[in-house]
Amino acid sequence: MSSVPAHPLHGPNRFKLGVFSTNADGGLAITTVPERWQASWADNLAAARIADRAGLEFLLPIARWKGFGGRTHVREWSFETFTWAAGLAAATERIGLFMTVHVPLVHPVYAAKALATVDHVSNGRAGLNIVCGWNPDEFGMFGVTLGDDAYGQAAEWIGIIERAYAADAPFDHDGQHYRLKQVVSRPASLQRPRPVTMNAAFGAPGRDFAARHCDFLFSTFTDIADGARHVADIAGRAAAAGREVGIHTVCHVVCRDSQAEAEDYYDRYAVREADHAAVDEHMAKKKQFAQSHDDRAFALYRQRFAGGAGTYPLVGTPARIAEQIGAIAEAGYAGAALSFVDYTAELPFFCDRVLPLLQRAGLREG
Ligand SMILES: Cc1cc2nc3c(=O)[nH]c(=O)nc-3n(C[C@H](O)[C@H](O)[C@H](O)COP(=O)(O)O)c2cc1C
Repeated sequence: MSSVPAHPLHGPNRFKLGVFSTNADGGLAITTVPERWQASWADNLAAARIADRAGLEFLLPIARWKGFGGRTHVREWSFETFTWAAGLAAATERIGLFMTVHVPLVHPVYAAKALATVDHVSNGRAGLNIVCGWNPDEFGMFGVTLGDDAYGQAAEWIGIIERAYAADAPFDHDGQHYRLKQVVSRPASLQRPRPVTMNAAFGAPGRDFAARHCDFLFSTFTDIADGARHVADIAGRAAAAGREVGIHTVCHVVCRDSQAEAEDYYDRYAVREADHAAVDEHMAKKKQFAQSHDDRAFALYRQRFAGGAGTYPLVGTPARIAEQIGAIAEAGYAGAALSFVDYTAELPFFCDRVLPLLQRAGLREG
């Protein structure tokens, strides 16, 4: 078999950058401003090409099946992530393409074949972001209830995919969650033994799952000092499993020439013109069903939920944002996935102005 280039997440830049959630309307924002992200296919294609040409490492979609009501029905519109990645794989050249997949909603034999397909279309640029999910309304659409052994199921699920790629003959699987007969999945992925994997999680069971089974954990933090503690925690869990696991985070970005301009826009889209009813619903559901953020985040950071689903804000001048990214790298993170209100309007400015500063800081090569 011909050799496949290294996946961009294993490329030379010390701090990797990705773009998160272009596949869903609003991106990560919950706002009513007229320029809010519509997530048309043309929008997705344009944003992907900007990121690809700028040398960012990855595109990461959100896995969403239902919206959060309010005026905008935010995230009711979202593209399914295997087919989204396949389309973008054919339209880009070097950027990594993740698929975000709900373990309880997608059968592992289906996932193995779909993931391998994208890995072939992209010549080894596929990545799998494994999520166990949290929203019972979404699960209800599939007639599935949230299980109490989500990560046990996830371990079995990824094990089946890995075995399907490795096996040279059909095999039976007799587990807790799956009983499968004569499994075969050809072609295997180009990346061996399987494409790069991430697990998006915050709580201890998710961290242990990532520590044992994935290449990266994808997780949030409330402030950078907390982030350093999360990095140490996952490193300890991975060491206990005899492995090394990188950790990526997620930030929402408002980058402008002046600090005042950036802060004013952040206040406008995420406070004055937020979709407050949708913010209420999103926060209430997350608080009840997900452990994806620590408790302080809910109490202190309503603006962060409207601004970027509770992720960390990077708001300010290119210099301020480069400094903050430097601090996140210093805390031990391997990279960050970024969201913007209007990706195609804002990404070029970010790439032109922030990337050279990261280069000067030794965080990226070019
Ligand atoms: C950075 C990050 C991204 C996530 N992305 C998604 C997603 O796209 N779709 C989804 O349903 N859940 C997503 N989740 C939620 C997880 O699937 C999980 O349900 C949640 O984090 C709560 O469980 P945990 O304590 O195991 O993390 C994400 C979580 C994090 C931390």
